[in-house]
Formats: sequence, C-alpha cells, structure tokens
Amino acid sequence: MNNVPVLIGPFRQLLTMRNLPLKGAISDEQLEIIEEGGILFLNGEIKQIGKFDDMGADLAPGNIIFLQEDLLAFPGLIDAHTHICFAGSRARDYSMRVAGKTYLEIAKEGGGIWDTVTQTRAASEEDLQQLVLKRARFLRKNGVTTVEVKSGYGLSVEEELKMLRAIKKADQELNMLVPTCLAAHIPPKDFDGSPNSYLYQIHSSLWPLLQKERLCNRIDIFVEEGAFGIEEARNYLQAAKDFHFDITLHVDQFHPGGSHLAVELEALSADHLEASGDKEIELLAGSNVIPVALPGASLGLGDRFAPARKLLDAGASLAIASDWNPGSAPMGDLLIQASILGAHQKLSMAETWAGMTFRAAAALNLQDRGVLDVGKRADMIAFSGKDYREVLYHQGLLKPSHVWQNGFPHLIQSETHV
Ligand code: NIG
Ligand code: FE
Repeated sequence: MNNVPVLIGPFRQLLTMRNLPLKGAISDEQLEIIEEGGILFLNGEIKQIGKFDDMGADLAPGNIIFLQEDLLAFPGLIDAHTHICFAGSRARDYSMRVAGKTYLEIAKEGGGIWDTVTQTRAASEEDLQQLVLKRARFLRKNGVTTVEVKSGYGLSVEEELKMLRAIKKADQELNMLVPTCLAAHIPPKDFDGSPNSYLYQIHSSLWPLLQKERLCNRIDIFVEEGAFGIEEARNYLQAAKDFHFDITLHVDQFHPGGSHLAVELEALSADHLEASGDKEIELLAGSNVIPVALPGASLGLGDRFAPARKLLDAGASLAIASDWNPGSAPMGDLLIQASILGAHQKLSMAETWAGMTFRAAAALNLQDRGVLDVGKRADMIAFSGKDYREVLYHQGLLKPSHVWQNGFPHLIQSETHV
C-alpha cells in the first residue's frame, strides 16, 4: 500500500464500470468512458477519478505519473471461480478426452478429480503454497487482481486444512485471494461410510477449525452424478448457512437441477450451468443468485457453453470465471475465455467486462472492488490502445501493459503481443 497520493494519467479511455445494473442485459452505450481520464490512489484506495486536466493541482510533480502512451484503463479483473491449489497434471485425462472419452467415463476409470486428490495429498503445504503463488502471479500478470481459490483436492479434514492453510499463507504475500472450502467436491474413495457421513464429518470436524483459524468463509459443493446429490447438498448447505458461511455451488454442469437448490437456498452464486434449460434460467433470473459461466471448462471439455445470452435476456446477472483446474479447465486465461464466450453467446462487450468485474465481485460478496470509483480498492489494469473495443477484439491476446493491485504497480510492460 502506498501512503503517498499518486495521480496517474492521462488515460486515453478510462472505463469505470460504475452505475451499471447488477442483473440483466447491458449495452455498450451504457458504459461510462472518461476520455483523457485520471485517477488518484492513496493507501490502496481510489481517492478521485475524473478528467486528468482537472486533477492534481495540489500535488507535487513527484506524485504524478504522466503517461506518455495511449492507454485503456479498466477495473482489475476478478476471477470468481478457480481451483489453482493443486499438484500434478491431468494431461493423460486430456489425451483420453480429446480422443473421445467423456469426463464422467474417465473419472469412473480412475482418472478425474480423484487422480488430482492423490497427487495433491502427496504434496506438502509448502509445495502447495508455492504452486498457488506461482499461478496467482501468472493471473495477476494477465490482469486478474482478485482470485477465488477452492480447496477440494484434499477430501479429508487434515488434507483440506493443508490446502486452505497453503492458500492463506500464499495470500499473506499477495492480498488478492478469496479462499473457499470445497471439501464436498466428490465423496472420497477412501472414506469408510456414506457420502452423508463424510459431509457430516467435514461439517463437525473441519468447519469449526476453518472459523477458528480464519481460513475461509465460503462453502462450495459439486452437485452432479458421481459427486453429491440434491438431498445431500441441501442438508450440508443448510448447516453451512447456520454456521454463517457464504454458500456457492457447482451445478448443472452435465445434468440440470442443482441450480434449483442454489435458488432455494439463496446461494451467492451458481456456477457452471452448461446444462441449464429454460426452467433453470427462469428460476435464476427470478433470484439474486449470481450465475457464473465457466467457458474454460467448456473449452477444456469440448462441451457447450452456459446459456449466457438467455440468462441475461431473462434478467439474470452473469459473472464469467476461468475455473482454472487441472482437469476440466487447464488453460487458466480468463480474458481469452471470456472473449470467446462473448463471441459464441453474443454478449455485448459491456456484458463481458461486467462478468469479469463488478458482477464477479458480487459473486464473491465483495463490495470494495469491481468498479473504478472513489472509495474502492485501487485495483486497475491498462492496455495499450486508443479504443476500449480493441481488447476483446483481440480475444485475449492483447495483454495488460500495466497492473495496479492495491495501488501498487505490479507490472509495467512496454511491449504487448498485439
Ligand atoms: O469446476 N466440476 C467439478 N470440479 C471442477 C473440475 C475439477 C477437476 O476436474 O479436477 C470444475 O470443472
Ligand atoms: Fe470448478
């Protein structure tokens, strides 16, 4: 954090993403674009935003960064769904998938999530911390200034604790991670008992420790064939709400239905939704649940995209996240994936940016970021260019030239790919 004021500008275009609706369609004409914009950071916060020429009269020249090139500024991206705490690789699964086997078939044959559980259990807490640091820094270089990170490859009280402690330690260096407990990823093969008794063990033995050590305040569950059923998920999530955790769900990835539970329980978000039909869309649109599309999983599995256009037209919100994980979504590039989703689903550029910024912040229950506005975190990215449309037009290949996280410049590149 910087305890002296810093004024940065002039930006050719500054896209604030403020004053836009949380739900429903957005047109590009609704975007606030400040031409020749300036922004003032102090103590990791945005103190002022406006026309650069109207700002900084009271500042010493040393507190002003004069930009010499055309830059396009946006809020830092928020990746609201990742599994970047894992060890090993699932390239073998991927080779089988591209050759025609399905994700569920591969899981039944000993690949899938359980394979990563075995590899992650073999890693130490320190190894996992380093892996999370490496991946989060890679994301930050690509413009992501907030990253949600799930556990879920431990699948026992001790191993889930190891993962969440590794995430917490990594965040002590980064201050950009939002941890989530996904101990309910799949029923562990080595647990002697029913899925319900496993969930009860997590609830009674792990959750109190999560709260005692302040490891996370979010609980997730995968509702799907081969994972957990609706009834199991309902009991588990009700209990999580009684513990005052925020709840989120992996639903409707291959079969529709789990999203009904997300709505019934007023979850923060319902993620995946590739298999959601008209009924699910209507229910989500009538609720405050944030639907989260995961185009990286569609690309990794060669599967359909979530019905983003229909969700927005029905009046739902829409966040877009990478789902970066070793199995279904190994790419880990949110900007590429969101641009491709936008092209396939006919999203306005405003809707795609909203999905990676303030709507993603809402999916994480974060009020302090996602827009460039006074009082918000000084998380901002900039791209070389004269017109904001250049960024999504290049489908993610135009990378940020500048990234500020909490007011700190983390990368200043003079060269970009495009
Ligand atoms: O969000 N769908 C369930 N969980 C992850 C995949 C995890 C894995 O395959 O390792 C997902 O796609
Ligand atoms: Fe996921």
